[in-house]
Amino acid sequence: MRFFLAFAAAAALCSAAHAATDLHNYWDSRCRECHGESAAFARSTLSVEAGRLLGRHHRDDLATFLRQHYLSDDLVAPVLQMLQAQATTSPVFKDKCAGCHGSASQFARESLVMRDGVLTGRASGRPVREYLQRHGKLAPEQVGPMVATLERVLGEVGGR
Ligand code: HEC
Ligand code: HEC
Repeated sequence: MRFFLAFAAAAALCSAAHAATDLHNYWDSRCRECHGESAAFARSTLSVEAGRLLGRHHRDDLATFLRQHYLSDDLVAPVLQMLQAQATTSPVFKDKCAGCHGSASQFARESLVMRDGVLTGRASGRPVREYLQRHGKLAPEQVGPMVATLERVLGEVGGR
């Protein structure tokens, strides 16, 4: 019985992990060939006005357009949300971290995990907020936004 319960729990975990789509992988396999890197595309092509994401061409009908544009219906909302966050986040990771760590999505997949609600480095076992006090050369006021960005990216790759 105990074995069965452990097995059922493991199966439930697997299916939960499977259900969470890695939006960055999805972008890289379905959108990148035409649009390049997602955050650079969002920053250069999209804007946010009054909390709404607007395209350069598709200003008022972006969600409708995306429903007919290479995107399965259930992913329109999460992809729009990701692009909106990217369009409004300055590229600090790219400028100050990517040279050593690669893309934020790759870094999140490999090195980050949520532990008791706290974003934590896998290798160090330390909270990222604390780690960045002495690593990465961020100004003190950049640490909070960086932690928030990495938490978001970890969610986007299905890791939380
Ligand atoms: C085969 C090339 C191609 C692929 C693949 C592709 N797109 Fe596009 N996309 C375009 C072109 C061309 C336009 C401009 C068309 C237009 O404005 O009507 C566009 C426009 C857009 C726009 C609106 C930009 C604006 O300024 O209004 C968004 C957002 C977008 N694509 C997202 C995506 C996403 C998300 C994916 C992947 C799921 C994707 N695209 C896949 C070619 C592509
Ligand atoms: C010069 C290269 C370099 C730069 C720039 C850099 N890192 Fe690192 N980072 C590393 C190395 C190497 C490690 C592995 C531990 C060590 O040796 O310090 C690491 C470890 C980490 C860890 C801990 C990972 C774990 O598994 O515990 C975090 C979090 C982190 N870096 C975030 C960042 C962020 C965010 C930035 C940008 C603000 C950044 N790093 C900039 C090289 C760099």
